[in-house]
Amino acid sequence: MSSPEQQMHLAAFVTAGPGRPGGWRHPNSVSDWRSAKYYQRIGRTLERAKFDLIFFADILSVPYRYGDSLDPQLRYGALGSMRLDPTPVLGALAGATEHLGLAATVSTTYVEPFTVARSFATLDHLSSGRAAWNIVTSFQDAEARNFGKDTHLDRTRRYRRAEEFLQVTAKLWDSWDDDALVLDPAAPTFADPERVHRVDHHGEWFNVQGPLNVARPPQGYPVLIQAGASPSGRDFAARWADVIFCSHASLDAAKDFYADIKGRAAAHGRDPRQIKILPAITPVVAETAEAAREKSQQLSDLVVPEAGLSTLSYHLDIDLAPFPHDEVLPEMQVPGVQGHYEEVRELTEKHGMTLRELGKQYGGTHEGDFIGTGSEVADALEQWFTEDACDGFTVSGTYQPGAFDEFGDEVVPHLQKRGLFRTEYTGSTLRENLGLDRPASGDWHQRAAREED
Ligand SMILES: Cc1cc2nc3c(=O)[nH]c(=O)nc-3n(C[C@H](O)[C@H](O)[C@H](O)COP(=O)(O)O)c2cc1C
Repeated sequence: MSSPEQQMHLAAFVTAGPGRPGGWRHPNSVSDWRSAKYYQRIGRTLERAKFDLIFFADILSVPYRYGDSLDPQLRYGALGSMRLDPTPVLGALAGATEHLGLAATVSTTYVEPFTVARSFATLDHLSSGRAAWNIVTSFQDAEARNFGKDTHLDRTRRYRRAEEFLQVTAKLWDSWDDDALVLDPAAPTFADPERVHRVDHHGEWFNVQGPLNVARPPQGYPVLIQAGASPSGRDFAARWADVIFCSHASLDAAKDFYADIKGRAAAHGRDPRQIKILPAITPVVAETAEAAREKSQQLSDLVVPEAGLSTLSYHLDIDLAPFPHDEVLPEMQVPGVQGHYEEVRELTEKHGMTLRELGKQYGGTHEGDFIGTGSEVADALEQWFTEDACDGFTVSGTYQPGAFDEFGDEVVPHLQKRGLFRTEYTGSTLRENLGLDRPASGDWHQRAAREED
């Protein structure tokens, strides 16, 4: 059996809503995704398969970037059409699972650090050390307009705010020493006032007195996840993140990203092994390779190109409706997500996909490497893992919840037989299962940007 160091980590990418644009139309898809039971069922499936964590993506608007219209999002159930607030969804999962890490996305651009520090400290206590926060800075004007602003902050400013935001949340988590809660009824001492501290933060964006009204989280800090792709995003992620999400159209692109992030982390004085890079994949598994290709085709047929293009429009923050759909997407500067642009650029250059084909592909996002029998998909995962393209994967379901059952039943056993994945949970917290050290109080100083950064 390989040591945990040589084993991959698995996260599940779940939307608290209808899932992928074609997925909700799949005959095996279940539509009670407004109920707690739905997520508890997925959580138990993932725990049976020994996944490290479940992660809920989130955005703060119904996007309308494509053709300046809500129509394609709503009509075709595209990726942002409906999203439940993921943080309470984690509360429903905390009681229904025992080992699974519980991650929700919260934007640093539209909330206050006290609220976030408090929510995730609470979740970490409720789940006995399994909470994780996917830190995003948001990227759409549509989101800004739900929070009293006309336009979104530019990338430099939103990462400056995120930097200060993280410093404040960490100060708040550290505002209770680990041993501050005494609980001695005889003394009586509930908490030792000497060991609970105000933070008195005064900065460019925030003024926070503190302390937090929740004791230090069991994990010290909840696991911090980030997915920056731009140079400032990568730098922020390399300093702050314990786990990094990314998405790549090829093994070579994944290897470049992996080397870049690990190099940036080392340059900041961090141990690169303390950051787990988990690229997103959307596998399609069936009994034979041919059946898997047919299934992939069937799933693609359910995607209306406008649904994929509508999602791509909001990811790139570019209205793609006026571009000729039977021609390839021209090269351009995008204000939105650089990583997603690079992904579609690679598809355009390699396969000459027209915009319409790109829409179908983007709405489905099941890549060639990860379509096949359980053993073939495991081969591809093994290759990416052993060739230093990643530390594991973020598995997105083509349709929810069935795709997670299939992955757990048909792919995970192959990984386990090869010693590439755990057969039992060994840690009692998410950090331990991920092989991450527990941060001591004050550890954030090592992650914070220095003056010269
Ligand atoms: C797998 C993955 C999941 C993501 N999930 C979200 C999300 O739920 N909400 C969000 O606003 N952004 C999400 N993003 C976008 C990133 O947070 C980030 O904005 C993006 O990668 C662009 O990087 P940049 O901010 O450095 O330009 C995700 C990115 C990836 C690769």
